[in-house]
Amino acid sequence: MKIFHKCALLAWLGIVLSGCGPSPTFLSPASSIAEHEAKLYDNILIMALVVFVLVEICLIWILVRDRNPKGDNKPPKQIYGNSKLEITWTVIPVLLTVVLFAMTVQTMQSVAAPAASANDINLHVIGHRWWWEFDYTDLGIQTANELHIPVGATVQITLDSVDVIHSFWVPQLSGKTDTIPGQTNHMWLTANQTGVFIGQCAEFCGTEHAMMRVIVVVDSQADFNAWVASQQKPAAQPRTEDEQAGYKLTSTLCASCHSLNPAETDAKVGPNMAHLFSRSTFAGATYDLNEENLRRWLEDTQPMKPENDMNLNLTPEEIDHLLAYLILLK
Ligand code: CUA
Repeated sequence: MKIFHKCALLAWLGIVLSGCGPSPTFLSPASSIAEHEAKLYDNILIMALVVFVLVEICLIWILVRDRNPKGDNKPPKQIYGNSKLEITWTVIPVLLTVVLFAMTVQTMQSVAAPAASANDINLHVIGHRWWWEFDYTDLGIQTANELHIPVGATVQITLDSVDVIHSFWVPQLSGKTDTIPGQTNHMWLTANQTGVFIGQCAEFCGTEHAMMRVIVVVDSQADFNAWVASQQKPAAQPRTEDEQAGYKLTSTLCASCHSLNPAETDAKVGPNMAHLFSRSTFAGATYDLNEENLRRWLEDTQPMKPENDMNLNLTPEEIDHLLAYLILLK
């Protein structure tokens, strides 16, 4: 019966896991940190499988050996007090635990932060309910939710929070590190391939915790340099009348929460908008950024992301003006 239950559980797990499809996981590593994590995970999985198979073989063997087909209720041979057996099943788990400990310590050393160097990218990550602020301290760039880094570069990250505890986690690139109000944490990462990697706030931080995603774009050095140059430019200037009306609203109504200065060092309430449309998503990297979605958002943010801080009662005309200007912010 016991075996039947275990087989059923395994079959069920197989079905559930195969239905999950691709998801961000350190088991598809794109950094040295995730590679070390995946290697440790594989080794532990192999050890656990060997133990599982051996224990199941012993269990099946005893079930078969001591079955009682005649129903005479004679107890099987008892082994209480067998010193050899007891020493064996004590020493083997102790040895396994020592091996696990050694492998874990070795992995911790392998993922320890390298000494800072002049070529590092220094990044300040700040958790907000419910979005990520990214300040490139040496480059004079502030952006949100979508992070660009060059492939191969060491990124030294300091992490803070303005409200509650969040946790910054991009599984294919790094382990997770909490952002804690009043306590600055540090982490680092190096991406070893270009591509787009998904992360997620990994500490429950309120209603919209699930809508606090992060996208990391790992660029070639040339693409990264081009991105930096475009982000360092000032926000676009309005030309037409509609754009000017939108600009006026942006620098009055929006300005108490959103900055139009790309070099701001601390975001206000919401993300920096200087190059809003250089990003592919908004609202914590949960909606595609296009005119249609942004219009819905400006009409009423609450159905799209309940309890977020943005509550404006804009007229249709104001929304038209704002959109006319905002889409210029490439
Ligand atoms: Cu921020 Cu969960």
